Order: sequence, then C-alpha cells, then structure tokens
Amino acid sequence: MRVNIDPEKCQGHARCAEVSSLFVLGPEGFVLPRDVIVPDGMESEARQAVTACPERALNVASD
Ligand code: F3S
Repeated sequence: MRVNIDPEKCQGHARCAEVSSLFVLGPEGFVLPRDVIVPDGMESEARQAVTACPERALNVASD
C-alpha cells in the first residue's frame, strides 16, 4: 500500500502526523511531499491519517 501526498493541498493541519508516524512534517509545518510506503500491518493507521486530513491532501494510491 502506498499513500500519495499532494503538497499543493496541504495547509499544515498536522492531523496526519498526529494519527500516524508514517507522515512527517517539515520545518514549516507542512507534510513532507513524498510517497509513503505503508508497511504491512499499518494499513488501518494510514487510512485513518488519510481520512483525518481536512484538505484531502493524502490519497491511497490505486496501484
Ligand atoms: Fe497537511 Fe493534511 Fe497533514 S493539511 S499536514 S496533509 S493533515
């Protein structure tokens, strides 16, 4: 499972990082713009983080 991050949508709400350590904020408080490879067993946590972002900046990759 992989999560894409759309840096243009991120407004720095930080909820993703509160829900899961998979998502890391940069020094400006925005999520680091990189694809996140979700380890086995962390899918549920990753989906919670995706849902937690009010800007819908995180999306589960379809492939
Ligand atoms: Fe950005 Fe959404 Fe996280 S706005 S910091 S991706 S909760």
